[in-house]
Amino acid sequence: MMNPRGLAQRFRSKFLSEPQIYRAPGRVNLMGDHTDYNDGFVLPAAIDFYCWAAISSRNDGHFVIFSENLNETAAIGSGEVSQKQVPAWARYPVGVSQQLRNSGYDIRGANLYVVSDVPMGAGLSSSAAIEIATAYALLGVYGQRADPSLIAKLCQKAENDFVGTQCGIMDQFASCHGLAGHALLLDCRSLEYRPIPVPDRIRLVICNTMVQRELASSRSEYNTRRAECEEGVRQLKEALPHIRALRDVTLSDLEKHRNRLTNTVYKRCRHVVTENERVGALASALQANDCLQMKHLMEQSHASLRDDYEVSCRELDSLVSLASQHAGVYGARMTGAGFGGCTINLVDAKHIPEFQKRMADAYFEQTHRRPEIYVCTASEGAARVFVPGENVR
Ligand code: GLA
Repeated sequence: MMNPRGLAQRFRSKFLSEPQIYRAPGRVNLMGDHTDYNDGFVLPAAIDFYCWAAISSRNDGHFVIFSENLNETAAIGSGEVSQKQVPAWARYPVGVSQQLRNSGYDIRGANLYVVSDVPMGAGLSSSAAIEIATAYALLGVYGQRADPSLIAKLCQKAENDFVGTQCGIMDQFASCHGLAGHALLLDCRSLEYRPIPVPDRIRLVICNTMVQRELASSRSEYNTRRAECEEGVRQLKEALPHIRALRDVTLSDLEKHRNRLTNTVYKRCRHVVTENERVGALASALQANDCLQMKHLMEQSHASLRDDYEVSCRELDSLVSLASQHAGVYGARMTGAGFGGCTINLVDAKHIPEFQKRMADAYFEQTHRRPEIYVCTASEGAARVFVPGENVR
């Protein structure tokens, strides 16, 4: 766990000024993958892994960013820069700062010190965490106010335009709005959401395959899926003029008009349409404490992501099938974009130690990789962190 006082100290030695400190969490998604950019529904929870951002203002307009994880500094002048002028890791904070300025916020230069314990490239939204932490830090240090949902949208736009991933809104939204002990049932069209309590005895256990598909290739697979969904909407619209997104298509509409689609596009659409229905169903199962239904829905979701959306991989399938044989597991599925990364497991608190041990051994036997296993709790969203014993400005 990060000690904010230690972070403040390291900031002072690096930048010779007094910081404010902010933090933003990663997220895990319980249900609804690849639905957000189809105006659909998702059920993420913020987790207790964070990107921390310590910040002070500068009056020369420069934006100087230090990443403690990489031990690298990037310095940007006061004007607009293009993506190519910025090292890949710094595109997230730089994109956010430009986006805030272009949207009219009075953001000037800053020293920003970032350090993150969200596992990178594991599908737990390390990117959204650094974007949201940066946005809160820049707005906070310049005394600017913005609604958290708007911050989420601006950070999503920064990632779309400056980083080049056509991601949806889920990760940034969860990082802003997270609520302790709850998942968020979010309508990605209206951005209305409802907190859904995670039953007390259930822990969110995340198993990391330790497989990372190269960022460029997973980005291009992701963008291809998104384009296939848009193609589906274009074709279906000829028969169903009222639809704006796959969110508006029912399974019976889809079956009726499937001959308009190539088999691949049909399968992508079927995943999105059925996954959307599973989101509300899982929220109800959590509220009703219906463990059998949770397990059934998560199993269906994983199969759909594997067979229809084709974003799983051998290692994810292996973790899911091992978990589902385990006592005390109320559901297991891949989570996030896929192509490697993590599974989410709803595990009875009583069974955690034995679950961790058995999963680690069995996964190693099958894949010769050692998984990382994180027992998480649903956490609060982004906030300023007050350092004990220091003056609050
Ligand atoms: C990534 C994106 C999200 C979402 C998920 C898949 O995490 O950033 O917007 O599309 O993949 O559900």
